[in-house]
Amino acid sequence: KKKNLILAFESSCDETSVAVIEDGQKILSNVIATQINSHKRFGGVVPEVASRHHIEQITICIDEALKEAQIKTEQLTAVAVTYGPGLVGALLVGVAAAKVFAYANDLPLIPVNHMAGHIYAARFVKPIVFPAMALLVSGGHTELVYMPYENEFQIIGETRDDAAGEAYDKIGRVLGISYPAGKQIDELAHQGKDNFHFPRAMIHEDNLDFSFSGLKSAFINTVHHADQIGETLDKADLAASFQQSVIDVIVQKTLTACAKLPVKQLILAGGVAANRGLRETLDKQLAKSQPELDFVKAPLKLCGDNAAMIGAAGYVAMNHHIFADANLNAEPSLEF
Ligand code: KG4
Ligand code: ZN
Repeated sequence: KKKNLILAFESSCDETSVAVIEDGQKILSNVIATQINSHKRFGGVVPEVASRHHIEQITICIDEALKEAQIKTEQLTAVAVTYGPGLVGALLVGVAAAKVFAYANDLPLIPVNHMAGHIYAARFVKPIVFPAMALLVSGGHTELVYMPYENEFQIIGETRDDAAGEAYDKIGRVLGISYPAGKQIDELAHQGKDNFHFPRAMIHEDNLDFSFSGLKSAFINTVHHADQIGETLDKADLAASFQQSVIDVIVQKTLTACAKLPVKQLILAGGVAANRGLRETLDKQLAKSQPELDFVKAPLKLCGDNAAMIGAAGYVAMNHHIFADANLNAEPSLEF
């Protein structure tokens, strides 16, 4: 049988990435050019800077991805691309490149939702079993997505203000940790204790929504107040307290969501899914309260933005006959 080979593109934020995926689950290459160092000194992603980097990197990434996979253009089956959500100027670079590549090589073009990409990163661990629940935690999103069938997404809970990753990055500034701060705060948290007991917003409310801006304010106020009275607080304890509050709420809401619906599998995905505390706590709590539920964590290396996950989601979309033509446009606010 002829192999299905998808060339996948991702450029929604600050990573330019191109991958070659075989039969939706084998990574032949996954080239990622990160721009983090260019954005660090601004404390966050600068859209214009991001677009410019994508333009510089995209053709290099295409060449490298094909070379590393040892695949010739003629062997490819299709092209998949993230067309939203994300920064419009960043998305446009990937969309334009994918359209031109597909047109020039007479290949079908598959439009992929970036968030579906994050979820389907789990396919590199094992097949997804439906009905499934996805806990999607990233820099721009925090949501619980119920998937009764393949390629069907229902948001049953989401953040009402900041995304979890956004909260990490914002309190990182206060701690003097540069963007993106999540990984460093996670490491710091493991050296401290939850001595501050920050609020756990909405934890007892009868809904599946989240809120992290109150926690962020409580954190900032605590640090500023200590500054004013000339007191220095333990950074590891601050990080541990912040992280424990985030984890407690996320885990509680996720367990409730999985108990409410006939879910066979829980998928943890998105940039914040790399969080060690969150992975460990979910492992432990699920084993205790819902041991029959299969728990799949996106591979650590595929939690952050990458094109391999777009190739996996593209493969699924292709099986559902979802294709785009040359009119495909970037959709910065794309929803499921
Ligand atoms: O999914 P992603 O790469 O980009 C978006 O689509 O948003 O997520 C990036 C976010 C950043 O906010 C970063 O601080 C956070 O993921 N992050 C983490 C960890 N690693 C990355 N947050 C908590 N703990 C981590 N270990
Ligand atoms: Zn992402």
